[in-house]
Amino acid sequence: MNERVKVVVTGAAGQIAYSLIPRLVDGKTFGNKKVDLCLVEIPQVVDKLEGLVMELEDSYFPHMGEVTYTDDFEKASLEADWFLLVGSIPRGIVYEGKKIEERSDLLKINGGIFVKQGEAIGKFGKKNAKVLVVGNPANTNALIGKNSANNDSQLWMAMTMLDSSRAKSVIAKKTNNDVSDVKHMIIWGNHSPTMYPDIENSIIGSQKGNAVIDDSKWIEDSFLPLVQQRGKAVIDARGASSATSAAKAALDTVIACENPTEQGDCFSAAIASDGSYGVPEGLICGYPLVTLEDGSVEIKRDVVLSDFAKAKFQVSIDELNSEREAVKHLLK
Ligand code: NAD
Ligand code: LMR
Repeated sequence: MNERVKVVVTGAAGQIAYSLIPRLVDGKTFGNKKVDLCLVEIPQVVDKLEGLVMELEDSYFPHMGEVTYTDDFEKASLEADWFLLVGSIPRGIVYEGKKIEERSDLLKINGGIFVKQGEAIGKFGKKNAKVLVVGNPANTNALIGKNSANNDSQLWMAMTMLDSSRAKSVIAKKTNNDVSDVKHMIIWGNHSPTMYPDIENSIIGSQKGNAVIDDSKWIEDSFLPLVQQRGKAVIDARGASSATSAAKAALDTVIACENPTEQGDCFSAAIASDGSYGVPEGLICGYPLVTLEDGSVEIKRDVVLSDFAKAKFQVSIDELNSEREAVKHLLK
């Protein structure tokens, strides 16, 4: 076990982080590498991380390397391989007298966090660092961060893996399959109610999704709203936003990037558009991705969208464009 990987996690005292952090060092996410953790929090709660470090030490993790914590993000960023940017405020809170209902309402509160963090990642992170933004609104926060980082050799992603796992679960139930029988599950667009979970191009068992589920009424009236609104449904049921499922999705995204993608499959995350599928360049958009043998992550370019899918996807692209407009003062 000579190889090491340094992982920075923000929001380390939060709900998602409590599920996420132990599993980064359990020998599964990064395989046989030693994992050095740098946990970041705001000054008001950073001291709480001492308790988490105690628990990690008490848990017997042979793959755990050095564990540090800080409120100094620049210091944390030094030579880091991975950044899991969870730190930000979830919806459901009251801000300036208004209950935050939609993820996009969080732009004003959370967007600013990603300017400074982006700058530090661009300057101090490894040349080939990978960054996964979990904090909402994830796509546009990643846009702000990537723009501030100004370092094109690093890969910025926003998390849509949770949406893809939710979609797999709904499809598996509907078709009496196991979740692992559902593959090639693409989330196009924004991590918001406009996202387009692409059932037509999914693979169920060995067949295309549209051959197995030929029921456009169910897709439009049940499947899409169920997946698009699942985050809100969990908040309503739990009184707090998804945490353990979000942590699992972040781990699955790391694993998907650390290992070559199986032939014929893809995974979901949002990355900067290079114009693929007609998306304006630079928007952080949900795409089908593949990891190649050399470790690079690329957009899968051979997916065919139906007219129905194109129309749905366009709604999400329009929303991403308007979010970019709303944060243009934060973009250099
Ligand atoms: P939480 O409130 O439990 O924890 C967030 C933590 O972030 C807090 O401890 C807070 O102190 C910390 N924080 C705030 N600003 C920070 C900063 N500048 N640097 C470092 N830490 C900072 O929230 P949570 O349930 O863990 O959720 C975190 C975020 O993830 C929310 O924005 C939520 O909406 C989002 N989320 C995204 C997805 C997704 O699929 N993309 C899924 C679930 C939740
Ligand atoms: C989710 O999808 O569960 C998260 O984005 C949290 C939220 O606000 O919905």
